[in-house]
Amino acid sequence: MTSDERAARATSFGAVAETYERARPSYPDEAVTWLVGPRPRRVVDVGAGTGKLTARLVAAGHDVVAVEPSEPMRGQLQAAVPGVPTLAGRAEALPLDDASVDAVTVAQAWHWVDESRAVPEAARVLRPGGVLGLIWNVREESQAWQRRFGELISDTEATYADPLQLCPGTRASPLFGPLAEEEFAFEQQLDRAGLVDLAASRSGVATRAPADRAAVLRSVRDLFDEHVDATGRLTLAYRTVAYRAVRTA
Ligand SMILES: C[S@@+](CC[C@H](N)C(=O)[O-])C[C@H]1O[C@@H](n2cnc3c(N)ncnc32)[C@H](O)[C@@H]1O
Repeated sequence: MTSDERAARATSFGAVAETYERARPSYPDEAVTWLVGPRPRRVVDVGAGTGKLTARLVAAGHDVVAVEPSEPMRGQLQAAVPGVPTLAGRAEALPLDDASVDAVTVAQAWHWVDESRAVPEAARVLRPGGVLGLIWNVREESQAWQRRFGELISDTEATYADPLQLCPGTRASPLFGPLAEEEFAFEQQLDRAGLVDLAASRSGVATRAPADRAAVLRSVRDLFDEHVDATGRLTLAYRTVAYRAVRTA
C-alpha cells in the first residue's frame, strides 16, 4: 500500500459511518477486561469510531472519554453510546492533559496512526503505571467462503494476521514495558444485508470508484447466496487479538 493509499483508507470511514455502525463487530467482554482490568478506571478510547469498543468499556463501568477525528463517526458514536464525552482529535495529538488517564485503548485503528508520534502521546496522557491497550478483530479464513470474502474486500486474514507487525515502533518503545499479548475467540452472525454492509464498511472497498465498489458488493451478495446456512445467516469467526503494555515510570 502506498502512503497515499494508506492516508485515503485511514480517512475513508466517515463516508460509510452509518454502515460501519450497523455492520462492524463489537469486542468480547473478556478481552476488554484483559485490556484494562476489572476495576473502574479513567479510559480514553482513541480512534473510537462509532463506539464499538467504547460501548463495551462503558458497560464494564469505566469512566470513558472517546477521541475520534471523523465527524460522521463521532455522530454515530454519540447516538450509539449516549452521554460519553466525545472529542475531536487524533492519536498523534490527544486533546487531554498530561497524566490524566489510567488507560489508552485503541481498537482496530492503531495501524492507521503515526506511531512515532502516537506512542509518546499515549505515554504523555497516561499516569505512571497506566496501560496502553490495542485490540483488533482478525477475520478467520478457515473456510473457502471466508477466504473469498477476504479477497473480495482486499483485506485477507494475512493482512492483519499479526496486527502489531503493522506497527513495529510500538513493540520497541522504551516508554512502555514489554507488550503482553492474548487472543480470544469471537464470532458474528450476519444476514445478507449484514455481510454486504460489512464489506461496504471496509476501507479497501469504501475507497474504490463507485462502479468497482458496486461490483464488489454484487459479488458479496452472490457469495452469501451460495453459502448461506439453513438459518438464513453466515457466521464469521474472528480471533480477537489484544496487546497491552504498562507505561514505565
Ligand atoms: C477501523 S475504524 C475503528 C473504529 C473503532 N475503534 C472500532 O473498533 O470499531 C478506524 C478509526 O480510526 C480513525 N482514525 C484514523 N486515523 C486516526 C488517527 N491518526 N488517530 C486516531 N484515529 C484515527 C478513523 O477515523 C476510524 O474511525
